Amino acid sequence: MYEINLRITGPTPLAPQVLQAMSQQIISHRSDEFKSLYAGVDRNLRALLGTIHPVIFLTSSGTGGLEATVQNILRPCDRVLSLQTGFYGELFAQITERTLDAPEQLIRLRSEPGQSTDTQKLSYMLQQQHFDAVLITHNESSTGVLNPLKHLVQIIKANSGALVLCDAVSSAGVVPIHMDQWGIDVLITVPQKGLMAPPGLAIVVANDRAQKRASSARVGMYFDFKRALACARLCQTPSTPSIVSFRGLQVSLQLLFSEGLERVYSRHSQARAICQSALTELGLDSLAKPPFQSPAMTAINLPAHIHSQPLQLALEQYYKLYTAQGAGDLQDRVLRIAHMGWFSLTDIKWAMVCLKDHMRKTY
Ligand SMILES: Cc1ncc(COP(=O)(O)O)c(C=O)c1O
Repeated sequence: MYEINLRITGPTPLAPQVLQAMSQQIISHRSDEFKSLYAGVDRNLRALLGTIHPVIFLTSSGTGGLEATVQNILRPCDRVLSLQTGFYGELFAQITERTLDAPEQLIRLRSEPGQSTDTQKLSYMLQQQHFDAVLITHNESSTGVLNPLKHLVQIIKANSGALVLCDAVSSAGVVPIHMDQWGIDVLITVPQKGLMAPPGLAIVVANDRAQKRASSARVGMYFDFKRALACARLCQTPSTPSIVSFRGLQVSLQLLFSEGLERVYSRHSQARAICQSALTELGLDSLAKPPFQSPAMTAINLPAHIHSQPLQLALEQYYKLYTAQGAGDLQDRVLRIAHMGWFSLTDIKWAMVCLKDHMRKTY
């Protein structure tokens, strides 16, 4: 019979070495052993994300990281521009709206599903209006659009002094990120997607400018960046962290570096190509159009007579292929197949064999 092929858009499968690391006896989070575990994970994450700034580890999912960022960095009087290419951009925007004095202080620059932000409109808006911050979703997991982060940040920096807050939840470990070089002020990611580790942490990096803002933020206790940063200097977290997540990340990051980041990124691009060619064979399209097709996932734009739920259920039932329906408004119209994290190209080819077999038999 088939083996499980977990191709949802996160959490992603774990390598045996990661599973083994996570099954060790628990340790004190105030011990030297934990401090050295913390230091190693922090060092490797900085190298992966292209930053010299310390990582803030929050025990939450990615949404907690977005919320903590908004609460620590933004002020109620700020004006914020949200670059929205889908459901997760809208999530970031709604979190932000709750912090601002009035909803009108958040302006949405929306793209058509499958498209990236219109850069001419972006420049124009930045020239015409004042914004304190811009929200970007690097890889929009609902549409499979990889936004051109470096280019977008260049435009923002050239036209304004706005802070750039970037959701890199489903892009870290999938594509290169140079946070400091590109001028990203805050970057948020998670272990459970491209980083090949279990859910349980939000990973946030704030540069000096953002840390300065956080230093005067009026914020609750648990997600306070000031406390987290003070503890980070001692390789500690303020409260009990998810120690198991640190152990998983330690090993998964070692696996990424021993494979070599270039190879990791190229493996993801090859997986995208495998999916695109299967879609062509089936006469189907991905929602995202070149050059924005994500190497993390493929969102299939289903024809009107095919609905995502029966397709998803059939793939699970007959092939043990686990995929994700669309998110938000696209739920019925899109089927998402992830190719991020710990996978081999054989896993992706096999997923496409199953998809083609089922589609040809059924539709
Ligand atoms: C781009 C993006 N942002 C944010 C989130 C929310 O993360 P979490 O489910 O870990 O809270 C997700 C989850 O899939 C995502 O893909």
